[in-house]
Amino acid sequence: MTEPSAPPRKVTAPEVTAAKATDTPLVMVTAYDAPSARIVDAAGVDMILVGDSVAMTVLGYEDTLQVTTADIAHHVAAVARTRPRALVVADLPWMSYHVSTEDAVRNAATLIRAGASAVKLEGGRKRLDAVHAILDAEIPVMGHLGLTPQSFHAIGGFRVQGRDLEAAREIVDDAIALAEAGCFSIVLECVPDAVARLVTDSVAVPTIGIGAGRHCDGQVLVFHDLVGLENRIAPKFVRRYADLTADATAAVSRFADDVRGGRFPSSDETYHAADGVADALALYGGSTTEHAPV
Ligand code: KIV
Repeated sequence: MTEPSAPPRKVTAPEVTAAKATDTPLVMVTAYDAPSARIVDAAGVDMILVGDSVAMTVLGYEDTLQVTTADIAHHVAAVARTRPRALVVADLPWMSYHVSTEDAVRNAATLIRAGASAVKLEGGRKRLDAVHAILDAEIPVMGHLGLTPQSFHAIGGFRVQGRDLEAAREIVDDAIALAEAGCFSIVLECVPDAVARLVTDSVAVPTIGIGAGRHCDGQVLVFHDLVGLENRIAPKFVRRYADLTADATAAVSRFADDVRGGRFPSSDETYHAADGVADALALYGGSTTEHAPV
């Protein structure tokens, strides 16, 4: 008898930090439910981000400001139930860490209890109190700088950040402050590659880029963008590796055609009563003949 194989050891936040010293870039992909978590974990990613992008990719909102800690916890739990090897990082949504450090810790704890092993929050030096408080509660924190979609109204839309010297310096200083505070890694979203490079060279923790060029310590993409389930907008940094919207639409159209053409279900796709039962049912006036040709 063979021994059941031990579950693969989970990636930890300190291991992610230590990966900065290696030559292999880190890979993070979002997932918001059990099927997408199984797919990205089977593909061998290092981190699964249950991002607040769930608002737009799954829940149909126009921006990320609509989701709550309870919403994110619901999706984290679905991901965590698949027991992925990858580190599960949960986004703290807008207003979950902006009012008080007590709120920040309580909301971070809700996401950890739902199954995350770390949380991510947006912003630099002005969020240091929240970062310190969450770290004090022994919860690993990932930073997020550059385009921070929760600041969408304040920064005037989804636009590349750090284009001028002053703005670039602010991002570098914010990154240094987050790393020194103890963040285990930092997402850099939509910044020029020279800025991402300077940040990456200036901090001792890994930078994970999205629209930040190749000089980061890792890359993250949104699952729905990567597999072509979200194809209404195409930011230039997205590379689509599949076209699941087209594939799924074609599959559902074929199903509809088969139903309407009497080709679904076939005899093989049908439960049949035993002969005697079928005959007895026919006696009551019912017909046991099949509608569809095999
Ligand atoms: O919510 C999200 O998907 C994110 C990524 C863009 C990094 O924060």
